[in-house]
Amino acid sequence: MDLLAGHDWSHFAGAAPTGSGVRISPLDRWITATEGARLQPNPPVNLAGPHLEVSGDVQVDFTGAVNGAYLQLYAKPPVIYDEWRQERPSLRVGIVGGKLEAAVWDGKSTKAVETKKLGSGLSGEVAVSVRRSGGTITVLANGKSLGTVGEHGVFSAGTLWFGADGSWTLKSLSASGSVRAVDAPGWHQAPSSNSLRAKASALPRPIGIGAAIASGPLVEDAAYRAIAGREFNALTPENDMKPQFVQPTRGVFAFAEADLLVDFARANGMAVHAHTLVWFEALPTWMRSASDKKTVLIDHIKAVAGHFAGRVAEWDVVNEPINEDNSDGLEHNLWYQAMGKDYITQAFKAARQADPHAVLYLNEYGAEPDGGRWDALYKLVKELKVNGVPIDGVGLQNHEYEKGDRTPPETFRKHVKALAALGLKVRISEMDVVSGGDDTTQAREFAGKLAVCRDEPNCTTFGMWGFTDRYGSTANTDVTPPQPGDALPWTANLTPKKAYTSMANELK
Ligand code: XIL
Repeated sequence: MDLLAGHDWSHFAGAAPTGSGVRISPLDRWITATEGARLQPNPPVNLAGPHLEVSGDVQVDFTGAVNGAYLQLYAKPPVIYDEWRQERPSLRVGIVGGKLEAAVWDGKSTKAVETKKLGSGLSGEVAVSVRRSGGTITVLANGKSLGTVGEHGVFSAGTLWFGADGSWTLKSLSASGSVRAVDAPGWHQAPSSNSLRAKASALPRPIGIGAAIASGPLVEDAAYRAIAGREFNALTPENDMKPQFVQPTRGVFAFAEADLLVDFARANGMAVHAHTLVWFEALPTWMRSASDKKTVLIDHIKAVAGHFAGRVAEWDVVNEPINEDNSDGLEHNLWYQAMGKDYITQAFKAARQADPHAVLYLNEYGAEPDGGRWDALYKLVKELKVNGVPIDGVGLQNHEYEKGDRTPPETFRKHVKALAALGLKVRISEMDVVSGGDDTTQAREFAGKLAVCRDEPNCTTFGMWGFTDRYGSTANTDVTPPQPGDALPWTANLTPKKAYTSMANELK
């Protein structure tokens, strides 16, 4: 079965369908540490394209492989956060120095468990085949068997997703045996009149109900997808619009995963709250070391906000600029070091220019309670407003990672009102509540903040940072597979918790 013709290869980062096949360009995408070091390569997976359902022995054949070309078959898409990528079992075949290199990951480590360099003298365009027979994978080049590697769970998971890297054209790709090709699902999900979004839309003053969504789970997990489309009318890309993902190499943009989230949102009538143009984390290494920071910042905003203009409703233009310990109340991050506090003004101006219709936010954590962080934030946004900087609103993240992060709703309300007096909108942008097993307190926290947002006329959206513990960002990622956190309104089994019921009650 032909896996190129009639299938979607246009939403595959770094790839472009052409008349003669799918052109693959190297992105040099990496997962980077918060302080900038490269941690793991992050080659793209064709999430929106065809994948295979495998029920037994199977053969995959492709042509066009030249030196440096890689094709990778993943049992499941990797789980990707800013600082780590969890490999599921996968097989990568490529041509390196005239040999066929086969590497197998077993899903338990970021390193390949087996790597073999097979054959010799391979040149020009090579036809590569991968044949799975039980626990053994045989690799062939130009029809000739070169050797075997272990299966390590690559095929036995029952699905196979495609990734590629290098600089080459994938001229043909086909599969045979106990296998079926499956394309990306239709994005539209069944609505429900009982959902949070239905209730929030029926309020005398409707508000948005949002969640951060990740592209991997969205394509892989039908139950996650159904809840995302049914319960929420606003979507924030959790990681897929951050600079290390969208501009991995200077001037090379990779929007496929983010575009997929935007497509999903639009198919379900959800507003996209885009996140985030300027931050000091999740940056590609080249961005940190560039000497012309101002050009980098403006070019990034122009390109990224420009790309999504007309398809997203809002942007987090500047994320987490506050540090109350500095005398000016600002985080002295790389942008500040290069441009001083003017980086904030410049960023908002560039965003307004690139997407004149988007509502522009500054997004901050830890400013819900009274204290230095709130004071510094208030001072900053007041100054921006007074100076005519095009800022429309403030996102208050509302992460409750520790007991000390809990803020009485009335304190929070006071801050929402103070921002209203400055002419600013507010959104609760990233709420999650680590419960430590106390679902009742968790429910009270979610519902209390939601009630404030419902009642304060300048609060536009109540947004949570994910919705299910199955993919929550508070997971313990030191273990494989990650140990789910407990901070979101749906359990890891996707059943609603008390927090869900309490929120629904506030929206009645
Ligand atoms: C988090 C993501 O949820 C994680 O997957 C990632 O590893 C780190 O970033 N404030 C923000 C978000 O503005 O972008 C962060 O998201 C959470 C804190």
